[in-house]
Amino acid sequence: MTHFDPADLRAAAAQYGTPLYVYSRAALEERWRMFDDAFGGREHLICYAVKAASNIALLNLIARLGGGFDIVSGGELARVLAAGGDAARTVFSGVGKRADEIEYALESGVRSLNVESPAELRRIEALARNMARKAPIALRLNPDIHAPTHEHTATGHKDSKFGMSGDDIHACADLAATSDALELVGLSVHVGSQLMQTEPLIDGARRAVAVADSLAGRGVALDSLDFGGGLGVAYGEARAPEPGEYVAALMDALGDRDCLPIIEPGRGVIAHAGVLLTEVLYIKDAGDKKLAVVDAGMNDLMRPTLYGAQHAIENLSARDAAPEVVDVVGPVCESGDLLARARRLALEQGDLLVVRDVGAYGFSMASTYNSRPRPAEALMGDGRLHLIRERETREQLFAAERVIK
Ligand code: LLP
Repeated sequence: MTHFDPADLRAAAAQYGTPLYVYSRAALEERWRMFDDAFGGREHLICYAVKAASNIALLNLIARLGGGFDIVSGGELARVLAAGGDAARTVFSGVGKRADEIEYALESGVRSLNVESPAELRRIEALARNMARKAPIALRLNPDIHAPTHEHTATGHKDSKFGMSGDDIHACADLAATSDALELVGLSVHVGSQLMQTEPLIDGARRAVAVADSLAGRGVALDSLDFGGGLGVAYGEARAPEPGEYVAALMDALGDRDCLPIIEPGRGVIAHAGVLLTEVLYIKDAGDKKLAVVDAGMNDLMRPTLYGAQHAIENLSARDAAPEVVDVVGPVCESGDLLARARRLALEQGDLLVVRDVGAYGFSMASTYNSRPRPAEALMGDGRLHLIRERETREQLFAAERVIK
């Protein structure tokens, strides 16, 4: 929070307009070090989850901090490479990797393809064989844990689409052992996202360690154990566990096993490092309610609409007016398009608002719905503001479209 100076934010909005995402390099680096330092002297790899915020300027900062990457598509791999990231420190997760994406990952030399089903493993085997390559693979365990989070962000329960049962893991390990086109390098697990207690995360880690032990008992030694992401952050008033406490508990679960620990934090690194600036277009009444219509909508920031997420909002334009209870709504033609419900704010037309903690899953989930060009992105670093993504233009909205004869 303290990383965003109100005067800097006002200057940013004046220079680049609104809606505008602004990131703080110092805030990103501070959070990164909280994760990184927690490993002490133990060798480890932090694979930042690119989906959280994927601007190549941010990925580049993470590469410079020594980070690796967790990707879920060929598009994310292209971003990592364009940002100067190291493929050998990149793991490829996701339940639906297409053949062309698998080939691209093998050609690029990713650290591992994190396999989510026996069918996917058979496809990887065939493609690697064709390319005369040995595919490095990690097997993703479904830990069968019901994590207390939004149903959209819980991924570890038995009937979720993610990961595999212990039986499937063993079957995949058997296939890997008999194929010269596969090299089993690790095991991975991911319980869910925005978890406000460490227990389910540690539980998932323990289950992965137990499966690794059972594989070791059958003579299969793994290079790495990947505990996924998921550590929650404090939005508004909530309190979240510290990265240090979380990493220490993971290392406890891993014990002194000779295995490289990997984690894949996304939100934990970048959420606090980003804000969204938006202008109040109109104040209006609706029945008994007071509405502030702002120029950022659900297409720019989807989290409040999709998950009921509560991001703190403050007014950067000093006002003497008494605060009132208002709904902050966007311009998109959907009733669900709102940034906040029933907040006490003193607002007037033309005020500049800052929506906090939207560095993660903010811009990366933005769309052009209602044919609204996506916002610009700026990064505060070295005492100045850098434009890291130009505002999309109206022409770009349909530049790839063709009218038929
Ligand atoms: N690793 C894997 C395999 C994942 O699926 C995810 C997130 C992560 C790591 C990073 O999780 P994090 O540390 O950021 O919690 N759009 C939602 C979040 C979806 C998370 C999807 N997977 C939101 O805005 O809350």
